[in-house]
Amino acid sequence: MTMTAPEKPVTTKTQTLLDARAQHIPRGVSALTPLFAARAEGAKLWDVEGREFIDFAGGIGVLNIGHAHPKVQAAVRAQLENFTHTCFQVVAYGSYIKLAEKLNALVPQKAGQTSKTFFVSTGAEATENAIKIARAFTNRPGIISFDSSFHGRTLMGMSLTGKQKPYKQNFGPFAPEVYKTPFPMPYQGMTTKDALAGLEHLFDTQVAPEQVAAIIIEPVQGEGGFNPAPAAFMRSLRNICDKHGIVFIADEIQCGFGRTGKMWAYEHSGIIPDLVTIAKSLAGGLPLAAVTGRADIMDAPHPGGLGGTYAGNPLACAAGLAVLEIFEEENILEQAVTQGDYLERELKALQSDFPMIGDVRGLGAMMAIELVKDLEKKTPDADTATKVVNAALEGGLIVIKAGMHGNAIRILVPLNASHAELEAGFKILRKAFETVYKK
Ligand SMILES: Cc1ncc(COP(=O)(O)O)c(C=O)c1O
Repeated sequence: MTMTAPEKPVTTKTQTLLDARAQHIPRGVSALTPLFAARAEGAKLWDVEGREFIDFAGGIGVLNIGHAHPKVQAAVRAQLENFTHTCFQVVAYGSYIKLAEKLNALVPQKAGQTSKTFFVSTGAEATENAIKIARAFTNRPGIISFDSSFHGRTLMGMSLTGKQKPYKQNFGPFAPEVYKTPFPMPYQGMTTKDALAGLEHLFDTQVAPEQVAAIIIEPVQGEGGFNPAPAAFMRSLRNICDKHGIVFIADEIQCGFGRTGKMWAYEHSGIIPDLVTIAKSLAGGLPLAAVTGRADIMDAPHPGGLGGTYAGNPLACAAGLAVLEIFEEENILEQAVTQGDYLERELKALQSDFPMIGDVRGLGAMMAIELVKDLEKKTPDADTATKVVNAALEGGLIVIKAGMHGNAIRILVPLNASHAELEAGFKILRKAFETVYKK
């Protein structure tokens, strides 16, 4: 008698993939949704079951011009036909230089000064290199970053990051000579004045300003919960940097590339940073990041001190050039302003119906809401935020959380999403609130 193997239980495609994921991928790579993508276009995504979703996460701020933009696809396809890799340091290519030139024009300096750019592959790498450049320029060791900041998952990225869980937990010891200071958060009671006093205290107690190479700040904190740095704070930091010869680094990785209605979020405060770190929406979904900044600072590292095997990959540079053309052709910055007004209006309307939304905040189209258990004490309510996000997903909306306590819900929908898509997304979000709060 021959034995036949028992048939595998019939599962959905998603369940099969979830099982395989659990078996083959370490748990440290978290799953914000249980979805597996099949196709995406603009602000919409279809999963392997054929279900349609509105995407308010945009791959965490990478898709400011939407999924699978035909112009990006065409540029990448054309490059694919020619070559995919040479390593820029070995055999260079024009697209790298052309994209650098365009970013330099987008980061103007004071009269008489110009910008230079070089490329890497991820935001964390941009952070690492901005710090290297600032140290080489100043010949100083100290770096100052902010509470509730996020700058990446590498050793320096983690060291700079001011959010312990999940980014730093069990991963120490961290890089030395990195100091933290408070970030202004009016809703949490941290004023600009208090935050500046915190920095002065740091100079008095921990590190002399003459030993500080750089201050790195997200002009709008991303993972920390969409906290905009007040313009007055940015200006004070600029003055402090000027006074002590400290390099001012603006981390525009999440808040840049049009998200706030201007190309860079720092523009809202009228300052000019010395170095800008750029990633995410730079190349419409291809891995590309950059450091752009004052030419004399950028030139501080010796030849061979900067680079990377894949840094400024030709496919990604081709995509980056297409993205910048799309920004002009589709007036993405204007769309961001319009979208920002819409998001603020809708989120405030939601707040008036669901008062446990303690705060609606952000800048331009970088908006978030914070859920609390108690309006007076502002006790964070991460559980309810998770329930809302899950209910939204069930309704067909991908939206993700942020914040020091995981109780903020952030919106990073493509800036060129149609009004109908935005409306459909908000309808689902509102329904999710109704389901969770009225249960
Ligand atoms: C402000 C900021 N800096 C740095 C990073 C790190 O970028 P990456 O994940 O590409 O390394 C991120 C990623 O979310 C970010 O939001």
